[in-house]
Amino acid sequence: MENTQEKKDRVLSMIQPTSVPTLGNYLGALKNWADMSKDNDCLFAVADLHAITVRQEPAKLRKQSLEMYALLLALGLDPEKNIVFVQSQVPQHSQLGWILNCYTQFGEASRMTQFKDKSEKHADNVNVGLFSYPTLMAADILLYQADYVPVGADQKQHLEITRDIAERFNGIYSPTFTVPKPYIGKLGAKVMSLQDPTKKMSKSDANPKASVFVLDKPDDIVKKFKSAVTDSEACVRYAEGKDGINNLMGIYSCCTGKSFEEIEKDFDGKGYGDFKLAVAESILAEVKPVQEKFNEIVSDKAYIEKCAKEGAEKASYLANKTLTKVMKKVGFWQVK
Ligand code: TRP
Repeated sequence: MENTQEKKDRVLSMIQPTSVPTLGNYLGALKNWADMSKDNDCLFAVADLHAITVRQEPAKLRKQSLEMYALLLALGLDPEKNIVFVQSQVPQHSQLGWILNCYTQFGEASRMTQFKDKSEKHADNVNVGLFSYPTLMAADILLYQADYVPVGADQKQHLEITRDIAERFNGIYSPTFTVPKPYIGKLGAKVMSLQDPTKKMSKSDANPKASVFVLDKPDDIVKKFKSAVTDSEACVRYAEGKDGINNLMGIYSCCTGKSFEEIEKDFDGKGYGDFKLAVAESILAEVKPVQEKFNEIVSDKAYIEKCAKEGAEKASYLANKTLTKVMKKVGFWQVK
């Protein structure tokens, strides 16, 4: 007999609204989120508080947050079954973030490699928020007692510090926070730049042909793939030194489920032109339905607002349970 009482794992995923996601974000993370929500109790959120650690233009941030929220719904994340919300609409994130700052050592926060990288990149605005970014992220996770968090390589260190903070707090007081683990799901592809396949595809690449965005026009996606940098061997095979072809094969494999051997067989004797087109088409098959759904949702502002409001209410209800416990343990005077 099916055990309907079994408690599902809780998984939390968040994404910053600083740009339309790239193909790298999509294949590496977003594509798997709908699947993940089938077997887990999931929360999905737009991390707008994190976005202001780098200067943002207000109107643009507002628009991008709404669009990122619509995109989450367009990916098929059902707002009735999951909690889909915007971080700044749930004040407990900032509240717990402050408290956790006081349980995080300056030294350990200083070791975060993303802080070092971002400080160099934005040398004119090395603000305190950029430094305490990981404690806010810890608050995001610990507020909901998440069991698992799917993180890419760049966020692994932040999940580790979250575990350290949780264990420290639990040790000083008594068990308060679930110590979260990295979610190991289906392996996504690591997507490289189409113009310099030795570097990761980035949302901020100066060359517009280097990166494909999930909401790019289908024609533009085809064009970008057609001009992807390859090599002069003219043979579709996975091999060291063939970074461009390796990247295209990884993308194609991720979209079609075909192994590298199958791909090599399918394209035996064919040129790169045919292969590039096939890769572009495999992406379009994934991305077009998401784009159609996105266009439908984004034009219905009342619906998006209703979902966001309900999502924030549900999130806030859960967050408050944790925050109340924390405030009590820390010793804040609470009046009823
Ligand atoms: N820092 C993450 C990123 O830039 C986004 C994020 C914020 C996040 N809070 C989180 C991811 C909590 C997972 C869990 O990708």
